[in-house]
Amino acid sequence: MDELIKKAAADLAAARNVVALTGAGISTESGIPPFRGKGGLWERFDPMEIAHIDAFMRDPARVWNLLVKEMKTIVDSASPNDGHKGLARLEARGILKTIITQNIDGLHQAAGNTDVIEFHGNFAWQRCMDCSRKYQTSQVDISEVPPRCSCGGILRPDAVFFGEIIPPEAMRRSRQAAADCDLMLVVGTSAVVQPAALMPVFAKEAGAKIVEINPEKTPLTGQISDYLIRGNAGEVMNRILQQLEK
Ligand code: OAD
Repeated sequence: MDELIKKAAADLAAARNVVALTGAGISTESGIPPFRGKGGLWERFDPMEIAHIDAFMRDPARVWNLLVKEMKTIVDSASPNDGHKGLARLEARGILKTIITQNIDGLHQAAGNTDVIEFHGNFAWQRCMDCSRKYQTSQVDISEVPPRCSCGGILRPDAVFFGEIIPPEAMRRSRQAAADCDLMLVVGTSAVVQPAALMPVFAKEAGAKIVEINPEKTPLTGQISDYLIRGNAGEVMNRILQQLEK
């Protein structure tokens, strides 16, 4: 791993426009479970039964009870870990420009990154399904579910369910960021959910280097990514930063 850390630090120092694509893996060290793999949410639930917009429309109370309430508890108490902080330090050093994240936990912004594209929306806000009024999630009373807007409409997370389109502005900006970067860091994503997993493909097509940080291989490994640094995001980011700061 030492050689790859040195290589990544040198590649980052030489790059002119670095973009990161992140997934649930970067937040596991903050106590937020991933979706796939051991301990993942989809081990306990069928995503089509609980995270699909049709399931929510059929029975919002059920989805609130089984999924959204638990996410609220976990996200409310989570704070950035060394992986998030490492990306914030890369931005502070003028190296990293933009993060495209599939996560809805807001931890990149909490760590200090200023240009974060929330590809799957966010969990900081709830939106009325009738009048679109937004409420801060932390202020929403969930003693009765589903919680309701003052107009009587049902509140839903301002995040993307399966079966919904990616917010168009997030899609447009992500494609642009992928096409413009010369190095993409792909951190903590299984890279199996589309269209997010296409962003490294677009970056590669435009000539960028693709560097993965993940304890496991992904479909990008050896195909799209130039190299994979196998390890946890926190430790790997710390070591890359140490090398850059030498
Ligand atoms: P996944 O749960 O599919 O994948 C998590 C990835 O993180 C895996 O490849 C793990 O090997 C890796 N990982 C685990 N711990 C790690 C650590 N400490 N450091 C680095 N990597 C680690 O999560 P995503 O790829 O984000 O979509 O999933 C994509 C989308 O699927 C989510 O945004 C969500 C989900 O269904 C929607 O809800 C629409």
